[in-house]
Amino acid sequence: STKYRSFKPVHLRDRQWPDTVLTRAPIWLSTDLRDGNQALIEPMNVERKLRMFRELIRIGFKEIEVGFPSASQTEFDFVRQLIEKNMIPDDVTIQVLTPAREELIRRSFESLKGAKRAIVHVYNAVAPIMRRVVFNMSQDQVLNELAVKHARLARQLADENPGTDWRFEYSPEMFSGTELDFSKRVVDAVVEAFGATREKPLIINLPSTVEHSTPNIFADMVEWMHRNVAKREAIILSIHPHNDRGTGTAAGEFALMAGADRIEGTLFGNGERTGNFDVVNLALNLYSQGVDPQLDFSDIDAIRQVVEYCNQLPVHPRHPYVGDLVYTSFSGSHQDAIKKAFAARKEDDIWEMPYLPLDPKDLGRSYEAVIRVNSQSGKGGISYLLEHEYGLSLPRRLQIEFSQVVQEAMDESGREMTAEDIGGIFTQQYFDA
Ligand code: KIV
Ligand code: ZN
Repeated sequence: STKYRSFKPVHLRDRQWPDTVLTRAPIWLSTDLRDGNQALIEPMNVERKLRMFRELIRIGFKEIEVGFPSASQTEFDFVRQLIEKNMIPDDVTIQVLTPAREELIRRSFESLKGAKRAIVHVYNAVAPIMRRVVFNMSQDQVLNELAVKHARLARQLADENPGTDWRFEYSPEMFSGTELDFSKRVVDAVVEAFGATREKPLIINLPSTVEHSTPNIFADMVEWMHRNVAKREAIILSIHPHNDRGTGTAAGEFALMAGADRIEGTLFGNGERTGNFDVVNLALNLYSQGVDPQLDFSDIDAIRQVVEYCNQLPVHPRHPYVGDLVYTSFSGSHQDAIKKAFAARKEDDIWEMPYLPLDPKDLGRSYEAVIRVNSQSGKGGISYLLEHEYGLSLPRRLQIEFSQVVQEAMDESGREMTAEDIGGIFTQQYFDA
């Protein structure tokens, strides 16, 4: 499904620690249009939501959380438009979020009238802080009056509308801050209340709504659930990491290794506070270790443009895989090594390049932007740009002499030099005199 050039399948026999690395892509869910959208300064209008939806389909998401239809008319109308205008491909399932509240669940079902397939995602908080401070409820009350009661209602509404192929997801919100034995009790109870079976499993989505601990602890909690829930065969185990400690990607990777089947996140990690789990990051981590991510990021700049437009938020220049500066080397020794590796490389060679873990061409980026020159650079980068931009291959002694001239010009100006600047200095130095 992917169009990458240097994709190299990895064989298990080549791995030293087959159990500790990810060897296949998880089930992905994009929540750009829900969790990502709810965190925007200016949430998307229908036009921006549609643009994002089309992009998510193009990338290859098969499960897309399209909104929170009981939250606003815009959200409701967007879901209606997708259904009424027949915009959902046959291999894509839309998902909507609803809190465990009767009128909001009913409104969510209303928004989905006529859908061929849908996932209804019900959530309620389970953490002690929420029970004590927000609900003033005991564990049993949260379990019975929020979780089980509303799972039964959702099941009943689905049974009354047999025209749609219904699936369900349940999230014990703030799982990462909740006693494990209570999370298990809730999960076991909702599995029964939704009537989940091996053939029609329930998605149990474990969120680190707030990252409470290091990623290994979150993964341990997920693993404990994976091993201890009563009916594992009737569950698709999903995770929903956030990034409060800056370790959302690690938390996602560890938790998938610990037994999760599915992961929820957004493009470039947009989302509440410090963001949701970044799908692009994990997908391309998988790719760079030889696992087909089943998502297409082969034109990453075009994707970034759409996402920046829809979210009205810039992507950081050092963002992994996509930032303006990530296929760039300023340091002279890095530039020199890259230049030598390019020169030694044959067209069909697998990608093996110092300081560049991925072939930028795989993501639609070009080599031209790789080498940049500032006061930290040495002769390598300067010679590379002269050769690539002007076809000038300088002998070594002249490289040393000319790089000193460029260094002096940079020390004076204190700024980066473009290939054009360097060409100008070269002409001035050797032809204008
Ligand atoms: O972060 C969270 O807990 C959520 C839930 C509603 C799944 O977004
Ligand atoms: Zn969330």
